[in-house]
Amino acid sequence: MEKSRRKFLKIASHALGGALAAGIAAPLVGLVVHPLMKETVYGTEDFINIGKREDFPVGVPKKMSITSSKMDAWNVFDGLVMGSVWVIRQEDDSFHVFSTNCPHLGCGIDWGQEENKFLCPCHGGVFDVDGKTLAGPSPRGLFAFKTKIENDNVLVSYKEII
Ligand code: FES
Repeated sequence: MEKSRRKFLKIASHALGGALAAGIAAPLVGLVVHPLMKETVYGTEDFINIGKREDFPVGVPKKMSITSSKMDAWNVFDGLVMGSVWVIRQEDDSFHVFSTNCPHLGCGIDWGQEENKFLCPCHGGVFDVDGKTLAGPSPRGLFAFKTKIENDNVLVSYKEII
């Protein structure tokens, strides 16, 4: 009788120890396996939605923020502001999207409503509504981004300059 009770207690304590070990090991295994099974770094997706087509008046530049989500290991960052762009809806409903940074030395470019031109405050850079250099030291026109329309949404490829 004593022998079978000892045997039972031995099996029960092993079972309890095994259950506790499994309870501790499972999250650790998950910690190691999770990065192998799932994408753990993402962000700056190819095309970023910047609004509905009708949000943009034809021919008038509108400044928009570029926001995205980013995952880095176990940290998820939503609504990260990555930068901004000038968006100009064309007569034919296509879109021109320009960087807000001057191609000369990167200063922020503003739209001069009265001048009807993009103006850089740093060294007098001037660009027309199509992004072409009109005056100043910039060796090229404004940086333009690839765009497309999907379901009436304006999408911008913020990492691809054309
Ligand atoms: S940074 Fe714009 S003109 Fe120099």
